Amino acid sequence: MKLSFVGLLLLGSSALVFASDAPDASKRVGGGCDGCKLMLEGMPQTLASQTIIMPVDGGEPLEVEGVIFQEDGKTPAPSVILYVYHTDAKGFYSPAPGQTVARRHGGLRGWMQTDANGRYKFRTIRPAPYPNRHLPAHIHAVVKEPGKNEYYIDDFLFDDDPLLTREKRTQDARGGSGIVQATRNANGVWIARRDLVLGRNIPHYH
Ligand SMILES: [Fe+2]
Repeated sequence: MKLSFVGLLLLGSSALVFASDAPDASKRVGGGCDGCKLMLEGMPQTLASQTIIMPVDGGEPLEVEGVIFQEDGKTPAPSVILYVYHTDAKGFYSPAPGQTVARRHGGLRGWMQTDANGRYKFRTIRPAPYPNRHLPAHIHAVVKEPGKNEYYIDDFLFDDDPLLTREKRTQDARGGSGIVQATRNANGVWIARRDLVLGRNIPHYH
């Protein structure tokens, strides 16, 4: 009896989530997004413009920074939450020890909120492509602007990745091109930069 009650509760909550996600996909900023809401799971209450994502299995250190701009591509956008997650050094979304929420996104996930100058920065490791190597290595990213629902932008991709296709290189990327040029500094850290433009190639932005 107890179990079925719990089951009913779970069913009820997932049905609610589904109901709030599905019918308004044509109206929500960015259109439908499978998994964007997972950004809210485990999100710290207070966010800084910089974060460190702790690697769980080694990997090559990577720092990514940039500025998030308003639609005009010039005015910095403060207080925008950027959520990123990516595979580990073997190409898996391995959960962190004890991770209970958003396991689908793995343990390598983090949040930032842009400062007054629109800046963000995260330190992590370079992700590896999925083991089947059908896709280039990538960092997923979801944006949450004040007053708008969360929506995904194009993945961070690496210009030196042999799996990066011509098609990917020329597509109209959401949020502006996600292809970064990573260069290794004297300490062996890969340094990359990506500036984002809010609303660029984002359906239903207004
Ligand atoms: Fe992925």
